[in-house]
Amino acid sequence: MSERPVINTIHVQASRSYDVLSGKGLLEDIGEQILRIGAPKKAMIVSDDNVFPLYGRKTAESLARAGIETGSFVIAHGEGSKCMTVYESLLEHISSQQLTRSDMLVALGGGVTGDLAGFAAATYQRGIRFVQIPTSLLAAVDSSVGGKTAINLEHGKNQVGCFYQPSMVVCDTDVLKTLPEEEFRNGMSEVIKYGMIGDAAFLERLKKVPSGEWIEEVISHCVAMKRDIVARDEYDTGERMLLNFGHTLGHGVESCSGYEIPHGLGVAMGMAVMTRASEKMGICRPGTSEILSEVLQMYHLPEEAPYTPKELADAAMADKKKTGDRLRIVVPEEAGRCVIRSIPAGELVRWAEAGSMNR
Ligand SMILES: NC(=O)c1ccc[n+]([C@@H]2O[C@H](COP(=O)([O-])OP(=O)(O)OC[C@H]3O[C@@H](n4cnc5c(N)ncnc54)[C@H](O)[C@@H]3O)[C@@H](O)[C@H]2O)c1
Ligand SMILES: [Zn+2]
Repeated sequence: MSERPVINTIHVQASRSYDVLSGKGLLEDIGEQILRIGAPKKAMIVSDDNVFPLYGRKTAESLARAGIETGSFVIAHGEGSKCMTVYESLLEHISSQQLTRSDMLVALGGGVTGDLAGFAAATYQRGIRFVQIPTSLLAAVDSSVGGKTAINLEHGKNQVGCFYQPSMVVCDTDVLKTLPEEEFRNGMSEVIKYGMIGDAAFLERLKKVPSGEWIEEVISHCVAMKRDIVARDEYDTGERMLLNFGHTLGHGVESCSGYEIPHGLGVAMGMAVMTRASEKMGICRPGTSEILSEVLQMYHLPEEAPYTPKELADAAMADKKKTGDRLRIVVPEEAGRCVIRSIPAGELVRWAEAGSMNR
């Protein structure tokens, strides 16, 4: 007799409440899980051309066993698919398949798939249900939870989107076995971010025990932290901004590199620069940057950006997080505690300078 998988359930309380399930082998029973939230007649699986060949069939078969009619829409992998053209063809496809408001989209993939499918679900017929099946570590710990959906415009990332919560998130940790090592590192940068903004003991354990050895726990810990933040600030007007720790300069890094340096690596550099700067300015407890540095090294993440402070600050300021002349940045006070500060936009370069390793 096959054993039932151990399911870790985290309930998210937001404008739409839902469960985030995680554990080994959950894909097998995804159809059954979906029935719990009310059976759709049809489910359209949205996935990319790396993930679909690996897990598309298993997902479709499970849905079929639960009596759900399925279809699929496969996008090219990579950030380029988070665009108007792909969004439009996805909508045209589901419309041609006559999906109605009682049907659903199933996002099977990383953050790109989830953001695109989520936005399509939010806007098709003024909103149909969608289920997230995150397959990258980044999607599991970050993008699949919290309801931010978006696509990019030529002049900026995530420029069109909305808040739209999924009806359920199901993370089968077995799928991470096929995730390329670089993508795992990308996700680890966000995991470390959770430790820095809210849990020093978690950071300490990440340093002692490789995350791969307790990945189920790592994922559910991060999801629980995000759940708590989202419950208090779903629409990102205050505390949720903490999740942007390392992201302002991180986006600067990504942009300077013409998006050659991936997001997670940019965030790692951004966190390291901000922590050194905060320590140098006497805001942060001495020794914090050393703690962060040890964890980043453990997961082979970079600590210094290959650009000048001015290049970084200029690129970061072109980013959408600038509000008028002021900019909100996330500043560490110690490992496990960060605060949001509003600074004149022109001061960002001072932070980048103070946090540079060459000074
Ligand atoms: N909505 C949010 O709150 C939020 C938060 C953070 C990031 N994001 C967005 O998420 C995106 C980045 O997400 P990502 O890093 O998951 O990128 P991604 O979706 O491009 O996935 C990364 C790569 O890994 C591959 N992959 C994914 N799962 C796999 C698996 N199990 N086996 C083998 N290959 C696999 C994908 O095909 C892709 O090539 C960005 O667009 C970012 O803006 C959104
Ligand atoms: Zn991020």
